[in-house]
Amino acid sequence: MARLLLFLGAILGLLTSAMYMVEPYLEQLYIFTPRELAQLSSDAISAHGNDTAAVVSYIVDNLAKKHPDHVNLEEEWIFNNAGGAMGAMYIIHASITEYLIVFGTAIGTEGHTGRHTADDYFHILKGEQLAYAPGKGVYAPEVYPQGSVHHLRRGDVKQYKMDKDCFALEYARGWIPPMLFFGYADTFFSTLDFPTLWRTTVVTGREMIGNLLQGKV
Ligand SMILES: *[C@@H]1O[C@H](CO)[C@@H](O)[C@H](O)[C@H]1NC(C)=O
Repeated sequence: MARLLLFLGAILGLLTSAMYMVEPYLEQLYIFTPRELAQLSSDAISAHGNDTAAVVSYIVDNLAKKHPDHVNLEEEWIFNNAGGAMGAMYIIHASITEYLIVFGTAIGTEGHTGRHTADDYFHILKGEQLAYAPGKGVYAPEVYPQGSVHHLRRGDVKQYKMDKDCFALEYARGWIPPMLFFGYADTFFSTLDFPTLWRTTVVTGREMIGNLLQGKV
């Protein structure tokens, strides 16, 4: 037991030092930019309005042309429970330093954003998202309508809500693997939906490893 703990401690120590060493070079590892994704989301809404299926196809087709080896064209929708909120996601890209998904629900949800090791850009494709971060004098919600981007900075935390149907293109850049704990916690302590957990792991793992094999960290 003591040996196992020592081993786990050593691995954690190594990973943490590796993270600190790579930190200054993170920028060079990214293939997507917030600017490109904001523009693409806004173009897609201009072209297809509230036909969200067409908006999503427009975005994915465009990204596949620009980044042919790093985009998952299979629309594999999977339930996602995290921070008390429930919705579904389609994983477009997953690697060690970035993920890009369509996340949303047709009936609304509410929860905790999670405190993450990555910056999160939430491009509202349909509907509206509300957010709240407590502070002196803050009594009104942040409102993110269709076409806007909610940037949740690395380390920040908020309460969020989608009152009705709402779908977004969510882009995270930073350290993705630690975020997976947040993505899995609700399965173990609430839903016990292991088939969904398995599918999430298979698709995320397949995309991350597929990207790694092509040199995309
Ligand atoms: C989508 O539908 C909402 C609600 O009906 C409307 O307010 C909004 O303007 C529509 N958006 C577009 C881009 O057509």
